[in-house]
Amino acid sequence: MIGIIGGSGLLQLAGLEDVHRKVVRTPWGQPSGALSFGRLGGVPVVFLARHGYGHTIAPHDINYRANIWALHEAGVSQVIACSAVGGIRADLTPGQLVVPDQIVDYTWGRAVSYFSGEDQPVVHIDFSHPFDARLRHQLIGAALRLNLPVADTGCYGCTQGPRLETLAEVRRYQGDGCDMLGMTAMPEAALARELDLPYAILGVVANRAAGLAPGADATLAQRSEPSTPPERIVPDVAIAQAN
Ligand code: HPA
Repeated sequence: MIGIIGGSGLLQLAGLEDVHRKVVRTPWGQPSGALSFGRLGGVPVVFLARHGYGHTIAPHDINYRANIWALHEAGVSQVIACSAVGGIRADLTPGQLVVPDQIVDYTWGRAVSYFSGEDQPVVHIDFSHPFDARLRHQLIGAALRLNLPVADTGCYGCTQGPRLETLAEVRRYQGDGCDMLGMTAMPEAALARELDLPYAILGVVANRAAGLAPGADATLAQRSEPSTPPERIVPDVAIAQAN
């Protein structure tokens, strides 16, 4: 059985048959909504809308631990996480699919592990390759068979949100090697790894990241020299006036 997590714009799965919904509880609290069990093209799947079925749960408020736990308890053998992303790399333009192969995590203040608290051991999972290689290849292969444009690599920078980024932040993330930005891959991907659940993201580019859209005011993003800090200007003017 495949677990499918729906992101922004994917609140339900068209074509899901024999659907029954189940409200579940976990030791970590309530998932974003009921699990929808059904069949997609004959394959048993469990669907969960990450932001809730009414899209009411912001990225920093999602109970990632409960969501991944619930899918694991439901018996899924792998998780396909659908995510809207903002494209940084030139080829990542709106409508493009992308299957990222790396993550940089910029989030903070989220519950990031099942191994926390005094009653839990300290566990350091190997996260060198955050996504499952086999599942990534299956997603890429499926997109190619359907003639859908898909980028087969890319580094996903996970920002805290819920606001979008400043131009300077996008320039920084670009310098860090990020090819796209989203707000939900972390800690979702790491929690799946803690439960040994193969996990991969199917990203769809919703927009160009701030300042990178054609015609956008990208003056700051393009500037290579730092500007003169205002602190420097004010005393000089004051000195000139004093003279
Ligand atoms: N930034 C962060 N997350 C996003 C974006 C973006 O531009 N687009 C979709 N998710």
